[in-house]
Amino acid sequence: MELKSIDLAVEEHGEGIPLVLIHGFPLNRQIWQPIIPLLEKKARLILPDLRGFGDSPQELEDYSMRLLAADVVRLLDRLNIEKALIAGHSMGGYVALEFAHAYPHRLKGLALVASQADEDTPERRQARLITAREVRSRGIRYIADGMPPKLSAKPEVQKELHRIISTCSVQTVVAALKAMADRRDANAWLPEIQVPVLAIAGTEDQLIPVEKTHSLIKLVNKGWAVEIADAGHMPMMEAPQKVAEALGQLICAANGC
Ligand code: MLT
Repeated sequence: MELKSIDLAVEEHGEGIPLVLIHGFPLNRQIWQPIIPLLEKKARLILPDLRGFGDSPQELEDYSMRLLAADVVRLLDRLNIEKALIAGHSMGGYVALEFAHAYPHRLKGLALVASQADEDTPERRQARLITAREVRSRGIRYIADGMPPKLSAKPEVQKELHRIISTCSVQTVVAALKAMADRRDANAWLPEIQVPVLAIAGTEDQLIPVEKTHSLIKLVNKGWAVEIADAGHMPMMEAPQKVAEALGQLICAANGC
């Protein structure tokens, strides 16, 4: 099937090796805000909003992780970047894994933050479809109120997440839930990745258990896991210093220091 990529809204900071930071579901580029001052002297930070989220166009036809990865490579083309480090948070990690598979020649290194390579179990898939139905009937408040306590135990982070999630459209949330339910198992191509891979996990993550991080790292050629104590599903907001340090190690591994 032909992939109809679009131009994403993007924010850039700093200079150096390009590092694309892809947000998770149902969020936008603002989640990375706390780590910008910590990393902008080490890398050129590129923060897109995935299609439908933040300021990016609401073009939701054929929404899939593969299509979102095509949008990211189009962004690199637009910015004249041949190769980049790609870091994805949670659903952004599913996009980053599709990117690694489809565009290995454009990849300098990969970071998966609170993410996984596994596809959904039948139960998880079913739960997503139920969530999509509830969001359609009750509106965005259903997840804006319900999700933040599952993402972080920290009240100030929950408050910010509530604000960000409230900006999402019902249509984007439904499209993204369905696309996550339909995504492929990425474990098969992990051994083919030739660049350094970093996987970061919050030890208190309620959505994606820390074991998923260790199991994916076992399958890559060159990679390592970083566990962040007292962080849940949003380590870049809960422990920005530690996430920036870990990403700094990836920059060194990919680019030298
Ligand atoms: C995310 O944070 O991007 C999603 O919650 C991931 C998922 O539901 O699998």
